[in-house]
Amino acid sequence: IQAPLIDRHGRAIRYLRVSVTDRCDLRCRYCMAEKMTFLPRSALLTLDEMALITERFIARGVSKVRLTGGEPLVRRDALDLVQRLGRHVGGGLDELTMTTNGTRLSEHAPALFAAGVRRINVSLDSLDPATFRHITRHGDLNQVLGGIAAAKAAGLSVKINAVALAGLNDHALGDMLAWCVDEGHDLTLIETMPVGNIDEDRADRFVPLTRVLEQLRARFDLAPDARSTGGPARYWRVAGSEVRLGLISPLTGNFCAGCNRVRLTTEGMLYTCLGHEDSVDLKAAIRDGGLAAVDAAIDDALAAKPLAHDFRIEAGAAPAHSRHMSVTGG
Ligand code: GTP
Ligand code: 5AD
Ligand code: SF4
Repeated sequence: IQAPLIDRHGRAIRYLRVSVTDRCDLRCRYCMAEKMTFLPRSALLTLDEMALITERFIARGVSKVRLTGGEPLVRRDALDLVQRLGRHVGGGLDELTMTTNGTRLSEHAPALFAAGVRRINVSLDSLDPATFRHITRHGDLNQVLGGIAAAKAAGLSVKINAVALAGLNDHALGDMLAWCVDEGHDLTLIETMPVGNIDEDRADRFVPLTRVLEQLRARFDLAPDARSTGGPARYWRVAGSEVRLGLISPLTGNFCAGCNRVRLTTEGMLYTCLGHEDSVDLKAAIRDGGLAAVDAAIDDALAAKPLAHDFRIEAGAAPAHSRHMSVTGG
């Protein structure tokens, strides 16, 4: 194992999230506006540059890489990137994984497994077809459920991500957990975060997971589970099953003290915190100065990584910043 990258607060950085594309075939209401302007293709890293930069992080001690977006599988040749990075699994990488909306999983799940991916997270906010369509604006629930089934059949373990949304799915999260227990999927619930402009006020939909946990404990026997995936969730084991419930509570339970991650955008910007604008330009670095310049820029970024985000959800308040989750890669 390499000496880890260490930020100025002494935190070891072992987890790189890569936004493969800011584009998506869905328009989830808490994530995107209906009309989005995406980055021009000329601004993007090539997949080769993306792989080279990611490999630099692996050489410097990153052991977990997650491909995300936007929807990673809408970028043409995304599978080439997965295959290239998959060669590091079991070498420098403990885990190569992906967060996807599932719309293209039926087609790609076997190739993901063959490339070395063993576990994926699939966003699924509702099991009701009309609600699912409403939240995603364009999504077809059966297509995503088919994708999840295909992933399972291909040998991938699937964790479901659901953003808790008042009046849309908050009454149905117990049924979602019951479904996950039946299907053998872990479930992570997420508090909506104020990043990027959307068409609605996030405050109208915000649900504190502290309240959801209380409701779920009335129906399920939940025991704290200290095993971490290296991500931000805190886990509970559902008694009588192997299934875990994860809670990602950036608003009601800040987890920044244990932050182990940084994010590479499609444009080659390295963001060290989801909640701040601090970044360095790794695209300029690699094009102008090669990997030595990339190393220097990474060091600069870690020397400035903020201690914590300061998200607040208040009626009428502007988001923390205008950069969408799909650009930063969650
Ligand atoms: P695991 O490897 O399964 O633990 O996945 P993960 O939770 O790290 O990744 P995923 O892409 O499924 O992200 C789930 C949610 O966590 C998304 O909404 C991310 O934006 C959010 N998230 C991940 N890291 C951070 C973080 O450092 N800060 C905040 N505020 N949210 C984060
Ligand atoms: N707040 C919380 N989660 C979000 N996601 C996208 N936008 C937001 C937001 N504003 C979730 C998606 C996906 C994960 C990567 O991030 O649902 O599961
Ligand atoms: Fe696309 Fe994911 Fe954002 Fe939904 S949450 S619009 S699936 S990037």
